[in-house]
Formats: sequence, C-alpha cells, structure tokens
Amino acid sequence: MSIVECRSVGRRFPTPDGVDVVAVDGVDLTIGRGEFVAVEGPSGSGKTTLLGLLAGLDLAESGTVEVLGHDLSRLSPAERARLRQTRVGIVFQTFGLIASLDALDNVALPLSLAGVPADERAERGRAALTSVGLGDRGRARVDELSGGERQRVGIARALVIAPSLILADEPTGNLDERQGHEIVDLLAERVARAGASLILVTHDPVSAARADRRYHMLDGRLAEVAS
Ligand SMILES: Nc1ncnc2c1ncn2[C@@H]1O[C@H](COP(=O)(O)OP(=O)(O)O)[C@@H](O)[C@H]1O
Ligand SMILES: [Mg+2]
Repeated sequence: MSIVECRSVGRRFPTPDGVDVVAVDGVDLTIGRGEFVAVEGPSGSGKTTLLGLLAGLDLAESGTVEVLGHDLSRLSPAERARLRQTRVGIVFQTFGLIASLDALDNVALPLSLAGVPADERAERGRAALTSVGLGDRGRARVDELSGGERQRVGIARALVIAPSLILADEPTGNLDERQGHEIVDLLAERVARAGASLILVTHDPVSAARADRRYHMLDGRLAEVAS
C-alpha cells in the first residue's frame, strides 16, 4: 500500500477580481512506506496548499487524494481529524508551539487530543524529547529555548504519535544554516529509524539532496527532478 497516492489533484482559490488562483494543478504523486521526498519551488507555487490537502486540512476540488489507504474526500471531517491526530505528524516553519505550555506539555498535546492517559502522555512525551536531544528540557518554557531547540520540540511533537507520515513545511526556514541542517539530519534519521515517510518542503538544496526523490513545484504543477 502507498502511504500517499495523489491523482490529478487540483485546488483553486477565488480572488476578489474574479480570476481563480490555481494553487495546485493536476498533481500526481505516489509515496511509499519509508520514502523521503523533498519538494522545492518558489513562494506561492502551491507547496503549503498541497501539504494541507495531504493533511486533510483542506479538500481537493478535483482528482483524488489517498493517504494511508483512505480517500480523504470520503471521510467525514471528524474521521479526517482522527487520521491526522493518530497517523500524521506535521512540522511548521514557525514551530507552532503554544507559549503558555512548557516543552513537555507541547510535545504531549497530540496525545491529549487522542485521549491518552496523563501518565502515558508524560512518559511518551519525555521519550520523544529525549529522541531529539532535549530530554533534560521538558520543563523549559518556549521562550527559554533557541530557534533550533524550538524546532526540535516541534519535531518531538510530530513524532510522539509514532506517525506513518510526516509533513514538514519549510521546517528550517526560520533557522540559520547550521541549525537547519541539524534539524533535517534529525528528521531524516528519525524517519529512517521509524520507517515513516517524509515530505520535506525546503528552499535548501543541501537538504533536498538528502531525499530519495526530489520534486519541483511551479504554478501548482509538481514535477520530479531527475537525479
Ligand atoms: N486560503 C487561501 N485563499 C486564497 N488564496 C490562497 C489560499 N491559500 C493559498 N492561496 C494562494 O495559492 C497560491 C499557493 O499558495 P501556497 O500553497 O501558500 O504556496 P507556497 O507554500 O508554495 O508558498 C498562492 O497564490 C496563494 O496566494
Ligand atoms: Mg508555503
């Protein structure tokens, strides 16, 4: 079974002047278990929109999006949310941490949403923090962490559910080059170890070169880059 199977996927957005923006245009994409795929492309080319469709946060207007064997258009919003909460880890450029919670509570949050009991949440949260090298920073406030550390917390939060698919949307965009490469190393290593599939949106050619396959997105169209 493929982890991701997109066929002729399209998504437009209306604009005030009446001409639709074609954000995703006829995208075909197949990703197998454990594959690491990089997506490059200029700002506005549709990368985030595509990840939103894969996450089931948004629905395609045309074509089919299958994730982990589910045609997302056939799931209810609650079923899509459940699939996301239990099987898909998402890492954001802006980290997406909650400032009023400490590192451990941020990491454990997806488990709360999934109804995991408190003891188990704390244990799995600590293990996820340890796996990103922050085992001793669980009680740190978000504002006490560096950018690189914040993104490690973001990765631990994505990993805590043991996801089958990780969607990372420019996760190093707010980090310096060294921290950025450390974050991609960490993601690639964790994904390889856990057998999860990874889609990494990045502007960094060094990071993209680590992927099994590279794609380029332009005006909503996705094309594989010959390696
Ligand atoms: N919710 C939205 N409403 C209207 N237009 C949108 C929306 N989301 C994205 N777009 C437009 O779709 C295009 C692709 O955006 P996006 O997927 O964010 O690109 P990227 O992530 O590659 O920078 C852009 O023209 C953007 O303005
Ligand atoms: Mg984007």
